[in-house]
Amino acid sequence: MSDVMVRPATYADEADLVRIDVRTWSALHAVQPPPDPGKPFFDERHPPDEILVAQVDGQLAGYVRIVSPTPLPCNAHVRQIQGLAVDTWARGRGIARRLMDEALREAGRQGAIRMTLRVLGHNAPARRLYESMGFTVEGVLPGEFLLQGAYVDDVLMGRPRGPLCRAAGAACHLTAPLGAAPGGADAASGRVPVSRNGPTAWGNGPP
Ligand SMILES: CC(C)(COP(=O)(O)OP(=O)(O)OC[C@H]1O[C@@H](n2cnc3c(N)ncnc32)[C@H](O)[C@@H]1OP(=O)(O)O)[C@@H](O)C(=O)NCCC(=O)NCCS
Repeated sequence: MSDVMVRPATYADEADLVRIDVRTWSALHAVQPPPDPGKPFFDERHPPDEILVAQVDGQLAGYVRIVSPTPLPCNAHVRQIQGLAVDTWARGRGIARRLMDEALREAGRQGAIRMTLRVLGHNAPARRLYESMGFTVEGVLPGEFLLQGAYVDDVLMGRPRGPLCRAAGAACHLTAPLGAAPGGADAASGRVPVSRNGPTAWGNGPP
């Protein structure tokens, strides 16, 4: 088995992340047109500290992006996956599962007790992955997107409130249920939540 490492992204990963977005784009998961290979991956709204990358034998194989869905204090206990992609050569080796494990662990470290995401209804591989990791369907916007001539559902998924890193077999820093001390989530981690108002991403790449 190859050596897989998951770590926080840095600006030095820029070119590899652009390459992954360009190579993995498809209407199975993306609601935006194919990415421009000349467009930077990182900008002020998409900093590296939101991204975890997976390396296989030193080569960048995939990434996951974890953000605060809104900058609201009353929403600070939630993190959202806004981008997950594994390069085609690296698929089927458990890398997405590992990235999601680490994303849940990181969200737990940040004090979150709930994780959400959105996935296109026809994205069977991703939906199977999320379901196998404890995400359930919490809502469906039927026919929300017209992609290549077909109306596709926008499926909202979430992990129930509770310690997020249990699935990853790690100790959580915060186990208090929702409704405990307001703002306690971030107080527990000492980290400032990422402020974000932008739209949720479906599939890979910054919206
Ligand atoms: C979805 C994606 C991230 C999976 O990456 P991966 O590294 O190949 O996935 P893993 O090897 O970790 O597989 C984990 C689980 O995902 C599911 N899965 C992955 N590929 C699958 C496929 N082709 N068909 C069905 N289920 C699949 C399975 O449940 C699998 O668990 P198992 O191996 O125990 O059966 C990858 O196919 C991808 O980058 N797709 C394009 C981008 C995308 O769809 N992102 C999600 C946007 S919401």
